[in-house]
Amino acid sequence: MNFSNLIIDWYILNKRDLPWRNTTNPYKIWLSEIILQQTQVKQGLPYYESFTKAFPTVELLAKAEEDDVLKLWQGLGYYSRARNLHFAAKQIIEWGSFPNQYDSILKLKGVGEYTAAAISSFAFKLPHAVVDGNVFRLLSRFYGIDIPINSSKGKSHFFKLANTILDKTQPDTHNQAIMEFGSQVCKAKKPNCEICVLCENCVAFNTNSINEYPVKIKKNSIKSIYFDYFFFKYKDLTFVKKRTQNGIWKNLFEFPLIENEKQISEEEIIESIQFKEWSHKLKLEVNSVHSFKHILSHRVIYARFWEIDCSSEIQNEHFQSIKIEDINRLAVSRLTEKYLKRLVQPI
Ligand code: ADE
Repeated sequence: MNFSNLIIDWYILNKRDLPWRNTTNPYKIWLSEIILQQTQVKQGLPYYESFTKAFPTVELLAKAEEDDVLKLWQGLGYYSRARNLHFAAKQIIEWGSFPNQYDSILKLKGVGEYTAAAISSFAFKLPHAVVDGNVFRLLSRFYGIDIPINSSKGKSHFFKLANTILDKTQPDTHNQAIMEFGSQVCKAKKPNCEICVLCENCVAFNTNSINEYPVKIKKNSIKSIYFDYFFFKYKDLTFVKKRTQNGIWKNLFEFPLIENEKQISEEEIIESIQFKEWSHKLKLEVNSVHSFKHILSHRVIYARFWEIDCSSEIQNEHFQSIKIEDINRLAVSRLTEKYLKRLVQPI
């Protein structure tokens, strides 16, 4: 039996029953794939359920308010994926129907080669192989390939190989099987080689070098940044702002913020807010400060949230005043969400 037959037979006996596997609806498959780029299956399931319940069709998603889409996405992080999802739903409506060819699916905002292959194969049975982290790991181990998976040479090598071994008569099942096998058996840490149906011919297993695959080039450009947020309180009000800068938190609400490239002292912080256009002339009193280290793929944010009592209301065209009790209705970053959770559950 060849590679594909072995994993498909394994998959039929061992697959998890997941809702997006029981449908060929391209909208639902697309939704599931975007969610699963962001989180594990277990954490992704409730998001899939709430999205399909709130927006059972792509028409309804296209018509939704962006704030409502972001709110449902809250907790998953990387809100640009949710914004792209919303944008792409509008593209689909403009085009008249969900695209049913790989190249046109690839034109949807936020859809890359992996997602286009997943939708093409699961919804339309088109012969395009998925290449995600599971596939890189599984193929690099089985074939003993040491070309770095994050190099252009590696990407094209694995892409060609994955398409060569794809069972073109059942690309949907083959693709589900290879990903399931990668996530359940050929796992990154502690793979289950003892139950593996491929181990007889697996180069990494037979050379005792499972942990050496896949090979990656180290790239260390992780930058540290320092954010100071101000939770101003005046009576039952606080002040927030919709973030307008491009980036992962665009259009999310946040407290007034000072961003720095290095840590500044408490005195400097208090002094600097006195001079900000939004808070000058106010009498301010620091109540508490909470610190967080928030790790993103390309940066580490050291954040402090200052809770500050104000002597009068902040009047500034850039800020909205809102009732403190309403704050949980806003779409906020995961970092701000962590802080708000900390406030209601004091340690
Ligand atoms: N991860 C990404 N796509 C998936 C799928 N269709 N099933 C399970 N896990 C996945």
